[in-house]
Amino acid sequence: MQWPFTIAIVLVALVLVVLKLRRFWFEFSRLGSSDLSDQEASGGTKSSCYGCSGSSASESDLGIRIKPLVQLGDKRKRSVVSMCFLQAAVGGVVYGQEIRPPNYDEAIASNYKLGSVLAGPQGELIESKDQWPAHRKYLLDLFADQEYGYGPQGSVEVRMEVIDDGQAVLAGEVQAGIRRRQLAVYLERNGKQVRIDLLVWSPSDRPIASCFMGLNFRGNQSTSDDPKVRLTSSWCDSRNPGVVENRATEASRANQSERWPIAQILERGYAVATAHYSDIDPDYDDGFENGVHGLFPEHRSDAEHPNRWGSIAAWAWGLSRLADVLEKLEGIDPKGLMVVGHSRLGKTALWAGANDERFGLVVSNNSGCGGASLSQRVYGESVARINTSFPHWFNRNFRKYNDREDQMHFDQHQLIAAIAPRPVYIASASNDKWADPLGELLSGHHASSAYRLHGKQGLDAQELPAVNTPIGDGSIGYHLRQGDHDLLLYDWQQFMVFAKRNGF
Ligand code: GCU
Repeated sequence: MQWPFTIAIVLVALVLVVLKLRRFWFEFSRLGSSDLSDQEASGGTKSSCYGCSGSSASESDLGIRIKPLVQLGDKRKRSVVSMCFLQAAVGGVVYGQEIRPPNYDEAIASNYKLGSVLAGPQGELIESKDQWPAHRKYLLDLFADQEYGYGPQGSVEVRMEVIDDGQAVLAGEVQAGIRRRQLAVYLERNGKQVRIDLLVWSPSDRPIASCFMGLNFRGNQSTSDDPKVRLTSSWCDSRNPGVVENRATEASRANQSERWPIAQILERGYAVATAHYSDIDPDYDDGFENGVHGLFPEHRSDAEHPNRWGSIAAWAWGLSRLADVLEKLEGIDPKGLMVVGHSRLGKTALWAGANDERFGLVVSNNSGCGGASLSQRVYGESVARINTSFPHWFNRNFRKYNDREDQMHFDQHQLIAAIAPRPVYIASASNDKWADPLGELLSGHHASSAYRLHGKQGLDAQELPAVNTPIGDGSIGYHLRQGDHDLLLYDWQQFMVFAKRNGF
């Protein structure tokens, strides 16, 4: 090889490495963020593009918010830096390509073709409910294999200790009608243990209540101002207010209480159970070692295993372990468990609900890409972008579809269908373009034939309704709340109307 040619190649490679490094610096700055709307709380600009750290979807693509690595712990700093170099070298030289910018053009988004939710592996359609159990299994395998990864088969011992049983104290007042229980749930296997703090609010005047259960982003103490709720001891994102060196402080109490309107939910006779998602699996890429992954070191042990369980699968599996406890808890109706989640935890609620039939009703709030919205629309957050920003959420197979959504032989409407015939509610927000509200609605619409197969009504609408106008009288409900990516009282009010109508 001629010298000038070699030098030119080396120079080009160097430029690519530098570009890739910048990209990874930005991606790692977002990685593990447990709730980017925290910028809003800390005085940042309100964002309609939730994952974008900027003030709008397009701004986000400039990769504006750079988190200095000095905020990370030493060990993590070293691994981030070495991963940056490694991935930059490999990624920059081998691929040398950037992720496509997000699409917000409906004309481009509507150019896709979905398979029927009743179609089996060879395209054959199932015709009766008797075929449903086998078909549902096929759907679940499809998602475990291609997207979320398989949870472990091995059993774990679930032990529970009541650490508090008293009356709620909200807004400084003792609430005679609300019982507060805090349970330490221990998952044990082969001498290893994971502790999950489960906080349960239940109406004192009812012998038994249906219960909304969902994970929270910042620890149980963040979900209400009750001073008795234990501060989480699990990993927290240092960018969130009230967190110092990845640990929650008193200052974080109640800082997401608007997402958990306990008094208003309890007023309607429901119980609420919540746990910090980090107790199950801290939300950063550690090569699948910490959290519940660590209980099953032998389970698809190679980090590069194509269908190894990612964090969404781990959180969903954790929700099922909490259901093990809740279904036996005095005062909770085991037939009244409803799983709810916002954003990444909305994706989690859908996957948990699809797998575990004890969740009689499933609620997805602003779950977006990898949740309720159709990937093949490639509107807002794309598969490539989510896999790059959050490399630990999904399995490796899912990366095959990075910027290749047209090659997907499945889509999220089949995930909704896998929940059938149990009722499912999908909520979007009008400014949350990143999560593709129309794509979220269309998943529900296209899942409808699975509900009709069971003699239930699905969702007829194929167009977004007016804001704050819930639709769907049957087993699939939908609303487009006016405003930003968030979980607010308005959303809960619609979930409760839907739950009531469906017998919860
Ligand atoms: C990011 C991510 C979304 C996710 C959201 C969240 O915005 O891109 O996919 O839903 O974070 O969970 O907070």
